[in-house]
Amino acid sequence: MCGIVGYIGDKEAAPILLSGLKKLEYRGYDSAGIAVQEEEGIKLVKKQGKLNKLNTAAENEIFNGVTGIGHTRWATHGKPSDRNSHPHTDSVDEIVVVHNGIIENFSALKEALLAEGKEFTSETDTEVAAHLIAKYYDGDLRAAVNKAITQLEGSFAMAVMSKAEKDRIIAVRKDSPLIVGLGKNENFLASDIPAYLDYTDDFYILENEEMADIRQDKVEIYSFSGSLIADKNSTKINWSSEMAEKQGYEHFMLKEINEQPESLKWLLQDRLQAGKLDLSESGLKSDWLSDYDKIHVVACGTAYHSGYLAKYLLEDMLKLPVEVEVASEYRYRNPLVNDKTLMIVVSQSGETADTLAALRLAKSKGADVLALVNGRDSSIARESDMVLYLNAGLEIAVASTKAYTNMVAAFYMLAVDGMRQRADIDAETVKKYTNDLIRLPELSRQMIKQSEEKIKEIARSYAEQKHIFFIGRNTDYTLALEGALKLKEISYIHAEAYPAGELKHGTLALVEEGVPVVALGSRTDIFNKLFSNLKEVKARGADTFLITMEGQNYEKESVDHVFELPQLNQYFAGLLAIIPLQLLAYYTALVCGKDIDQPRNLAKSVTVE
Ligand code: F6R
Repeated sequence: MCGIVGYIGDKEAAPILLSGLKKLEYRGYDSAGIAVQEEEGIKLVKKQGKLNKLNTAAENEIFNGVTGIGHTRWATHGKPSDRNSHPHTDSVDEIVVVHNGIIENFSALKEALLAEGKEFTSETDTEVAAHLIAKYYDGDLRAAVNKAITQLEGSFAMAVMSKAEKDRIIAVRKDSPLIVGLGKNENFLASDIPAYLDYTDDFYILENEEMADIRQDKVEIYSFSGSLIADKNSTKINWSSEMAEKQGYEHFMLKEINEQPESLKWLLQDRLQAGKLDLSESGLKSDWLSDYDKIHVVACGTAYHSGYLAKYLLEDMLKLPVEVEVASEYRYRNPLVNDKTLMIVVSQSGETADTLAALRLAKSKGADVLALVNGRDSSIARESDMVLYLNAGLEIAVASTKAYTNMVAAFYMLAVDGMRQRADIDAETVKKYTNDLIRLPELSRQMIKQSEEKIKEIARSYAEQKHIFFIGRNTDYTLALEGALKLKEISYIHAEAYPAGELKHGTLALVEEGVPVVALGSRTDIFNKLFSNLKEVKARGADTFLITMEGQNYEKESVDHVFELPQLNQYFAGLLAIIPLQLLAYYTALVCGKDIDQPRNLAKSVTVE
C-alpha cells in the first residue's frame, strides 16, 4: 500500500532509491517517482505505470546528489497519472513529500490552503501536506513537519525534504509502517525491511507517532510531542537479501507455493519439543482455554479465510463459541466483547489497517488479543497481548500462499493445544493430532510434487472460461472461498465460492454446459452430501473437478477431474487441499498471460481502510 524509500549518505542517491523501490514494488505499482537533492534544487522524476517506466525515465536524466526520497504508489486519492504520482511539492518547490496512507481531512485543509492562494497541481491528499509544511517552514524542517502533522487526520507515513536543508530527511509514522536502516556514513529509510537488506541488517523500527531526523552520520528519533527518544534501540534482522529473490522460479508466487513444506517446518519446529506442543513463547498460558467463554477471529482477505476455517475447527475441537468476521465490518459495529473473550487477529503483513483497528477495539473492551502474524515487529504484533509468529519467511507475491498455509497450521496448533486442556479428551487423541501436525511439511511436499502436471492440464481449459465455481461444506467451504479468491485475483476470471448446498438457491442458473465447478471434498463426515451437490451440477453440464481423500468411494462418471489427498484426519486435510487450488490459480493465470506477482489494482500490504 505505497512504498516509501529514502537515502542520505556518501553515494549517488538515485540508483539506491531505485533499487529500494524495486524491492517494495509489491506494495503498489500504479506509479513511481524519486526526488534527489542537487546543488541547484530538487530534481524530481515521476511516472505513471510500473517501476520500469520510472527506470527508463531516470536513465535519461543525470542525477547529481547524495540525498533523496522515492515512492511507489497504490492510488487512493486521485487516479494513477504522472501528475498524481509522488513525490509532491508545494507551489514553489521548497518542500518535497512522499506519503503512504490517507489524510482524511484533506478536503477541508485543501480548501483553506486554496483560500490562502496556494496552487495545487494534483488530486492527491499528499499535496496538502507539502503545502502545509512549506507554510510552517522557517529554516528547521523538523519543526515545520511537527507543526503540520498536528493538523493531519488519518494514517500516514511520510518522508520530507527541504531544498534549503540538503543534508536532512524527516520521516514520520502514524499508523503506516516505516523503518530506518543504519549504515556507515549513510542511512536509509523504507516502508519495509527488504528494501535495504542488501545494505544493512541494523534497523530502527519506528513506533506509532515517532519521527526520525535522518542525516548522513546520525539518526535521531523524536516523539510527535517533540521530545528526543534517546534510548531507542535498533533491531538486527537476520534475513538474507537472497530470501527476497526468485531463486530460479518464474514468479515469486510459484517460489512461495514451493516453499510451503519449509515454511511449515519453520512454524512447527520451535513449538514442538519431544513430540509435544509448547506455545508458551507466544505468551499463551498452559491453561488458557479455561480463561475464555468465546473466541472472536478477525482478519481480512486470505487471512480471514484461514480464520473462517478456524471457526469450524475450534468450535468442534474446543467446544467454545467462535465468531469470525472481516475486520472492516467488525471495527464499525459494537461487538459483544469482555474480559472472557479471546480475540485472535490474523495477518501476514501485520500492518493491515482494518485488522489493527479491530484489534484496538477489542482490546479497549477488555479482550485478550492473540495475533497470528508473519511480520516481525509489525504494528499488529506489537499491539497484541500475545503473538504466535507464523515464521513463513518473506512473502513477496501479492497473492498470499505460504502465509495462508502457516495461518491454517497455526490454528491447528491452537486447536491441539486447547484439546490437551479438555478433561474429556484423552492423551492418546492429543498425541494422534500432534503426530498429524508433524506430518504436514512432508505431506505438503508430496502434494506439490503430485499436483503440478495434473493441474497444468486443467488450467489450460480453465483459462478460456468466464465463470468458475467452487463448492464445499464446513471447512471445505472455507477452502472454496480461498480457492476462488486466489483464482480471481491473479487470472481475473470470475470465480465464486458457495456452501455446496446453497448453489441451487439461485446461482445454479449460471451453470451450463462446460462451466467448471471445483468441489472440495476433504471432509469424510459429509462427503456424501457434497457429492450429491456435485451430481446436481454435473446434471446441468458442469465440468467437475473433485478434490477428495484417497480411498473415498464415489461414482466416477460424475467426475471429470479428480485429485486425491493422502490419508490424514479430516480436520487437517484442508491444508493439503489448498495446494492444488493455489497451483490452479497460478497456472491458469500463467496461461492467461497475466502479471501474476503484481495483479492489477492490488497491493501486498493494505495500510488504508
Ligand atoms: C490475497 C491476499 C489478501 C490479504 C489481505 C490481508 O491473496 O493476500 O487478501 O490476505 O489483504 O492482508 P494481511 O494478511 O497482511 O493482513
